[in-house]
Amino acid sequence: MSKKRLSILISGRGSNMAAVADWFAQRALPVEIVQVVSNRPEAAGLAAAHQRGLKTEVVDHRDYPDRLAFDEAMAQVLHQACPDLVLMAGYMRIVSPGFCLAFAGRLLNIHPSLLPAYPGTQTHARVLADGVSVHGATVHAVTADLDQGPILAQAVIPVHPGDTPARLAERLLPMEHQLYPQAAAAVLSGVARLTPAGWQLGGTPAAGFESFVFQSRLLHPELSQRPIHATH
Ligand code: GAR
Repeated sequence: MSKKRLSILISGRGSNMAAVADWFAQRALPVEIVQVVSNRPEAAGLAAAHQRGLKTEVVDHRDYPDRLAFDEAMAQVLHQACPDLVLMAGYMRIVSPGFCLAFAGRLLNIHPSLLPAYPGTQTHARVLADGVSVHGATVHAVTADLDQGPILAQAVIPVHPGDTPARLAERLLPMEHQLYPQAAAAVLSGVARLTPAGWQLGGTPAAGFESFVFQSRLLHPELSQRPIHATH
């Protein structure tokens, strides 16, 4: 059975990359992580990838005159590995429209907010400043519109009184770690397919993925069994 090929882009800690790698390592799904590529040579995630026996590569954005030149170099490194899917996992680069086109339908990002709310940076602080009661993470297709591509999966967490950005990030991260591998498996298996109208779910899983069940919405345990409105 041929394996689906997965590339992962990182810029820093790489905990989502590690969670994806560990999730697939624990399951008999026909998926191979063919490369972990960082735009920063100092990214801690490179060591985490090495520890897992994954091939690592660096394309340092500081070696290129502009975004287009860097994205072309990055695209070339990715193309060499022939990935079925590319995950941006804490990859802190805005990607050019050409890069999005080159990987259309096979480029995902995980973003720490319930998109389309709070695109961009500092999401946890902005959520707290606005006083909203739920927060979360979103896996979406990457398009030329920053953080606005079609949504594939979301995880929801409660916001507590007295929360800080750091506490919110800490509560959200384990949910991201559950969400991202599942979303990747949904695309690799053919269960989720990007169409001009958005994600189409319910496709027949490819050979070897029959046991996989996609949960496109994950609720934090504190939210999952609570009534929406307390009465008395
Ligand atoms: C994650 O929380 C991810 O959602 C976020 O950066 C963190 C990376 O952590 N991504 C973005 O903000 C993208 N705009 P990790 O390096 O440990 O996976």
